[in-house]
Amino acid sequence: MTAEADFGQFRAQFPTTETIAYFNSGSYGLLGNGVRAAMEAYLADRIAKGADWGAWVALEDAVRQRMATLLGAHMHEVAVTASASAGINAVASSVDFSARHKAVVSNYEFPTSAQIWHAQEKRGAEVVHVAEAEDRTIPLAHFDAAIDQDTAIVALSHVCYRHGGKLPAGQIREIARIAHERGALVILDCYQSIGTEPIDVRALGVDFCVGGMLKYLLGSAGSGFLWVRDALTSALAPSTSGWFAQADTNAMDIFAHDPSPSARRFQGGTPPVPSLYAAKAGLDLILDLGVDAIEGRVRMLTRLALDRLAQADIAVATPDDDALRGPMIAIPARDDDALVTGLIAQNIVTSSRDGNIRAGFHAYNDKADVERLVEALARSGQCFGRRELVG
Ligand SMILES: Cc1ncc(COP(=O)(O)O)c(C=O)c1O
Repeated sequence: MTAEADFGQFRAQFPTTETIAYFNSGSYGLLGNGVRAAMEAYLADRIAKGADWGAWVALEDAVRQRMATLLGAHMHEVAVTASASAGINAVASSVDFSARHKAVVSNYEFPTSAQIWHAQEKRGAEVVHVAEAEDRTIPLAHFDAAIDQDTAIVALSHVCYRHGGKLPAGQIREIARIAHERGALVILDCYQSIGTEPIDVRALGVDFCVGGMLKYLLGSAGSGFLWVRDALTSALAPSTSGWFAQADTNAMDIFAHDPSPSARRFQGGTPPVPSLYAAKAGLDLILDLGVDAIEGRVRMLTRLALDRLAQADIAVATPDDDALRGPMIAIPARDDDALVTGLIAQNIVTSSRDGNIRAGFHAYNDKADVERLVEALARSGQCFGRRELVG
């Protein structure tokens, strides 16, 4: 396979790349031609048919199937949601805090995850935060110390949305082992990695995995997923529910609640139909190119970016070790918002968080994008030298 030629073809499906060096896939992936066509097909179907519920329910299952493939899971273990938050909320609603009252939450969670667990305080939860060490990693020992016999759930992020640091698979497995040994469940947020590397939920040993389709999965806002380990589903009864969470969505029974035996019990109401058109098309782009190929491409690009930033004496906040980072590199800036604005004026799109600018790399980026970014950063006067005191 001529990988470069294939990636060139892939890039050509994203017209934005013609003018913009786009590094904001960790916020919202670029719109591919296939995804645009799918969204237009939704509008055409609406005009032509009015409503096409049969096709829409089949579409939801097509998205479920593709997500299962990406996660190394069964279709019946996947709930299709409208956001990652919806999935986490459904899981939280199924946790009985009277039996075990602690939610152990890493300090590298996206706010939504921490906030949802804090929202359970009125249901008796106590949130225990797991802090990072000086080297910005969260050592296994910190999780080991926080998880005890009172822990109901442990919330982890695969790749931290702030600086791109990654919990390696071995550490996730070990945290899950410790949690299970002590009777706790583990929920993994893989939103900042899914689509850029293979994720095998079973091999990771976690109980839930959550994310959404609008970033590296190239879909649109309004789509998310929740994977639930099948052996667990029947033991969990989310108190968030709805007709699409019932065993029979056509039951129309107002006198009973009969949750689906599958992970669909973690869903609620009408599926996010327009977003599912985009989600399926985005997932097809990812699956057609192949996650292994994307992982190689993204690793090559982030490696190149780190090496070029080092040559330009620009400090980064992301681990240099290929095994300890996801698709995003964070670069501390004197004024991160001003830097993002300055880059946009040069058709280079990044985002800012926590005093860093974030550059997320996808398979549609190329080496020329990396050069544009590094040169613009070097010119900006906003970055810190590698020996300067940062943060
Ligand atoms: C790691 C991570 N988790 C969760 C979310 C929030 O997802 P949603 O808005 O679909 O609930 C984001 C969004 O940026 C994220 O990066």
